[in-house]
Amino acid sequence: MNHTTQRAAIYPGSFDPMTCGHLDVIERAAAIFDRVVVAVVVNPQKRDPLFTLDEREAMIRAAVAELGNVEVTHFRGLLADFVRKIDATVIVKGLRVVADFEAEMSTALMNRSLSNVDTVFLPSDPRWSFVSSTLVKEVYSLGADVAEYVPPAVLHVMQSKRPAPR
Ligand code: PNS
Repeated sequence: MNHTTQRAAIYPGSFDPMTCGHLDVIERAAAIFDRVVVAVVVNPQKRDPLFTLDEREAMIRAAVAELGNVEVTHFRGLLADFVRKIDATVIVKGLRVVADFEAEMSTALMNRSLSNVDTVFLPSDPRWSFVSSTLVKEVYSLGADVAEYVPPAVLHVMQSKRPAPR
């Protein structure tokens, strides 16, 4: 192997908003790969995101500011095309529960079929295995304190956008 070859991983997602589980996967991927590109999807199947694309990117940038080999960007359309465009070596995904595996397995195989790029799964830290962007948004909108589940930079934006009810 050419030792000068950079191993770039792409970590794609909606990040609406980024959670501590996402940040944990990014930190661990950054320790494994030379470069990690966090890629926020534009116009995913999921309509009406709570946070705009700019907000989502800004929140992630703030949360990964200390990680020198992590970049944040966005993409439209097929992940497989974007993977080729940025010369990523692998796609990184976190796995929380068995349901994640079922969905992610077929996605990984489709992405490999389309772009010949493999997906590497990192097991979610048990601390975050129940944490999802969807649940964070739901409990926050109903008045719960979500400081435990999102990075401080994300909490800050959530509170500035809409103060927690209570
Ligand atoms: O955080 P999410 O919503 O679980 O992330 C899903 C994401 C963005 C990784 C997935 O929807 C995606 O890759 N979308 C881009 C469109 C695409 O390539 N779809 C086919 C996947 S096989």
